[in-house]
Amino acid sequence: MKAYVYTSYGPPEKVLQPKELEKPAPAANEVLIKVVTTTVNDYDWGMVTGKPLVYRLIFGLFKPKFSVPGMELAGIIHAVGINVKGFKVGDDVYGDISEKGFGTFAEYVCVHENGIAKMPKGMDYIQAAALPHAGLLALQALEMAKLEEGQKILVNGAGGGVGTLALQLCKLKNCEVTGVDSGEKLGEMQQQGFDYVLDYKKEDFTKNGIRYDVILDCKTHKSAFSYVKSLAPKGTYVTVGGRIGRLLSLAVWSKISSLFTSKKLQILTLKPNKGLERIGELFVQNKLKCLIDGPYPFEELPHLIQHFGESKHQGKIVVRVAN
Ligand SMILES: NC(=O)c1ccc[n+]([C@@H]2O[C@H](COP(=O)([O-])OP(=O)(O)OC[C@H]3O[C@@H](n4cnc5c(N)ncnc54)[C@H](OP(=O)(O)O)[C@@H]3O)[C@@H](O)[C@H]2O)c1
Repeated sequence: MKAYVYTSYGPPEKVLQPKELEKPAPAANEVLIKVVTTTVNDYDWGMVTGKPLVYRLIFGLFKPKFSVPGMELAGIIHAVGINVKGFKVGDDVYGDISEKGFGTFAEYVCVHENGIAKMPKGMDYIQAAALPHAGLLALQALEMAKLEEGQKILVNGAGGGVGTLALQLCKLKNCEVTGVDSGEKLGEMQQQGFDYVLDYKKEDFTKNGIRYDVILDCKTHKSAFSYVKSLAPKGTYVTVGGRIGRLLSLAVWSKISSLFTSKKLQILTLKPNKGLERIGELFVQNKLKCLIDGPYPFEELPHLIQHFGESKHQGKIVVRVAN
């Protein structure tokens, strides 16, 4: 089978090479999946480049401990291990396998049966690969914020995978949603349905005096204090990612600020695939759909990781591995 393999950290187009590997065989509790589509995520950029350096604590300090990156997939069960109960050959499946060992940048991958779910009827392989990671970051973050009907929401870093899905979840509760991202993404964001859009390079939302009930941040890069100032009384700020230093200080400030204000600062740690059924239901009901960048051919994968790292994508980058 063809797979993208790397043995040292570096620029994706230099270190990630196509190789012919032997097709793996599933262990007792695993399924072998023929990968139809996969996506490019922040973890893939971190895994391949070794940056930011803190990622090396997970992916290997001096050299990568995984040889094939890739964490999200949609595909078809090709073989099952002897103890597998939930799946049979031919089932369409999808999921985020980041807790189960990565490896979706290959034509086949073995995954523990707990690491995937059956695709709902009517879902295509493109949406199925794109929804699990970003959809659950958005869903779990808004659950953490205890989103209520009609609230005023701001999504920072709203032009990426998480932002557009968060918008749709907020609109199910008739919320007013402001999206912040770079100028070139704002037109598409308005078309997606954001009520207001801001260019973060021109306007600092923490300084315009507007207060929000919920701030969902995909790119934390300011002080905890500035976020508190932008929250309405009893408002909640939830971040899913951003600069490491800012996230660490936010973790400390969330404890301190809870002593003197009713506003909450929270950091989400994603639980892969928790809530995937809900994401599937919303998709089938036509209430949730991922904005897709692609699908692109498998041969373009190293370039697409570079494209992601340079933040040139809009929505979720999807790669077609098989037809
Ligand atoms: N919590 C967890 O357990 C967990 C797990 C995995 C990943 N994550 C994190 O979850 C986030 C995923 O979000 P995503 O997939 O939507 O990311 P994404 O597709 O990369 O989108 C992020 C958007 O933010 C914009 N941006 C960059 N700097 C900004 C700034 N200072 N202010 C406002 N916008 C800015 C980017 O645009 P430009 O760069 O073009 O300006 C981009 O459009 C990432 O931060 C990732 O690290 C969290």
